[in-house]
Amino acid sequence: MSGRVKGKKALVTGAGQGIGAAAARLLAAEGAQVLLTDKNAEAAKACAEQIIAEFGEGAAFATGLDVTCEQDWITALRFAQDAMGGLSVLVNNAGIALTGSVEDFDLDEWRLGFSVNVDSVFLGCKHAIPMLRERQPASIVNLSSIAGLIASPTFANYNATKAAVWLLSKSIALHCARRGWDVRCNSVHPTFIKTSILQELVGEKDEATVFAKLEKQVPVGRLGEAEEVAQAVLYLASDESRFVTASELKIDGGISAM
Ligand SMILES: NC(=O)c1ccc[n+]([C@@H]2O[C@H](COP(=O)([O-])OP(=O)(O)OC[C@H]3O[C@@H](n4cnc5c(N)ncnc54)[C@H](O)[C@@H]3O)[C@@H](O)[C@H]2O)c1
Repeated sequence: MSGRVKGKKALVTGAGQGIGAAAARLLAAEGAQVLLTDKNAEAAKACAEQIIAEFGEGAAFATGLDVTCEQDWITALRFAQDAMGGLSVLVNNAGIALTGSVEDFDLDEWRLGFSVNVDSVFLGCKHAIPMLRERQPASIVNLSSIAGLIASPTFANYNATKAAVWLLSKSIALHCARRGWDVRCNSVHPTFIKTSILQELVGEKDEATVFAKLEKQVPVGRLGEAEEVAQAVLYLASDESRFVTASELKIDGGISAM
């Protein structure tokens, strides 16, 4: 590893598994100190322990954070200050994929999707930007989705929430740039990645059949890996992307070109 984010101090949400866990591990592997957070505090702790075992004491920390709860954000950011001495990277990764057409949702379910996928980014950025400003150059990476750019009849809530993350990211980027702060903000847009979110889409159906159907939609003919999305997060977190802000990075095997 070459220390691409050496000295950076990162907070990753939803880091107890999947893309968040992979991003946290890769950031630590490339020299960052990482605070792994998740609604499932135990899962975040277990992942942090693995990172510490691999990269040493001080490479990772863990705390519970429900991204829909403002007080949790305030507490977690205070934890970041105390444990790491500040924050230079925020990865808003936690998210849920609720399926159904516009007619299938009731208002509470609809709002749950917005709360986890969008309120999270609003709250995280609102409270973290003052800390990020203290550690410029800084970077915010928000997990949107290809579903934030391309619609599907049975993804009403997911489409709407991930599209909101896409444009909210640009608004945040422009706000920081206009203030003259070197705090960048970009969104990442994966297509089907082999994590538990995809497993939920499989549901009761035969996994091999569902995966084969999904693979056929991707020009490169396969599903993505969490580590492949983590590489995009790493690039946007690092100073290699210093001139990249208000941008969207698609990790989609070419699906959005069709
Ligand atoms: N896997 C895919 O195919 C795919 C594709 C495009 C975008 N994404 C996005 O990537 C992100 C990560 O997804 P994943 O595939 O790793 O999913 P995952 O289900 O494997 O992991 C999500 C994590 O978020 C946590 N979480 C859920 N609600 C939370 C809350 N309220 N507060 C804090 N943590 C919470 C979960 O505990 C879990 O650890 C999500 O935003 C998702 O929408 C995933």
